[in-house]
Amino acid sequence: KRKLILDLDTGIDDSLAIAYALGAPDVDLIGIIGSYGNVLVEAGGQNSLKILELLGHTDIPVYLGESHSSTSDHFDRMQVSADIHGENGIGQVDLPDPQRSIEKESGVDFLIDAVHKYGKDLTLVPTGPMTNLAAAIKKAPEIATEIGNVTFMGGALTVPGNVTAYAEANINQDAEAANAVLTSPLHSTMVGLDVTLRTLLTKKETQQWRDLGTVAGEKFADIVDYYIQAYVDVNDNLGGCALHDPLAVGVALDPSFVTTIDLNMVVNYNKETYGRTIGDDNRLNEPTNVKVSVMVDKDRYLKTFMEYLTNLFKQN
Ligand code: BDR
Ligand code: CA
Repeated sequence: KRKLILDLDTGIDDSLAIAYALGAPDVDLIGIIGSYGNVLVEAGGQNSLKILELLGHTDIPVYLGESHSSTSDHFDRMQVSADIHGENGIGQVDLPDPQRSIEKESGVDFLIDAVHKYGKDLTLVPTGPMTNLAAAIKKAPEIATEIGNVTFMGGALTVPGNVTAYAEANINQDAEAANAVLTSPLHSTMVGLDVTLRTLLTKKETQQWRDLGTVAGEKFADIVDYYIQAYVDVNDNLGGCALHDPLAVGVALDPSFVTTIDLNMVVNYNKETYGRTIGDDNRLNEPTNVKVSVMVDKDRYLKTFMEYLTNLFKQN
């Protein structure tokens, strides 16, 4: 079984990423690291515990990572997304207080230890800011080449950002961290807005979860309907919500869901184009280290997504 770590700012689509990982066959989710973003880091960690409990997995440890970017203007920059994910990050839906606590060890140390232990057998999927991964590489640079697979949700290459004309939300939280990761020797796959905005879920699918008559089916339908409504309010052409974070998990486990192009990437962190993810013109002739997703087989992905989540919700 492949070892998987999720690094999340839990968040509605982050919750779907957890469900996808738990529903997928042959995956050993060995831990969740909490990041800040959709909500503050502590709230995100509590949400991860609650979602795991709702899905019957109280055995998976949850760690907290960094609470903000390491740059001096982090308080100006940091934005929580109450408008899209709800004040509590999970669509204002009440879930019982978790029966257990967050682990004492820091998320960054947990990640470093896990890379040392599992090496190429380890897959990491960051679906929030890249602050934790950048901190881990800074502390233990060898992990950049030891880790097996890093597939992250973030960035936009062929479409504009969703926070500014340039920046996608996760990258916008900490563009310097993202730049440090993408210009390190680490190999990664980018699952950005180019593909996630093409992979939508509608209330037709959440109704299928509701119809299961289980607690998990009903709670997830409530949580995700909030997100769908928030998306439709902003852009009624979409008719559904983007499956950003669960698509990143899907691609990590089955890269054939997307078509990628090989690039060296940089992330701008100047004032004008802060958060822009773009090809590095200083490394045009060097071996590449980022596979950037540009097309997605959305029908096959959505079928798999519904199969994994529906099976899981049926049992809970
Ligand atoms: C990303 O930003 C967050 O709000 C979502 O959870 C997703 O990871 C989309 O830009
Ligand atoms: Ca996220």
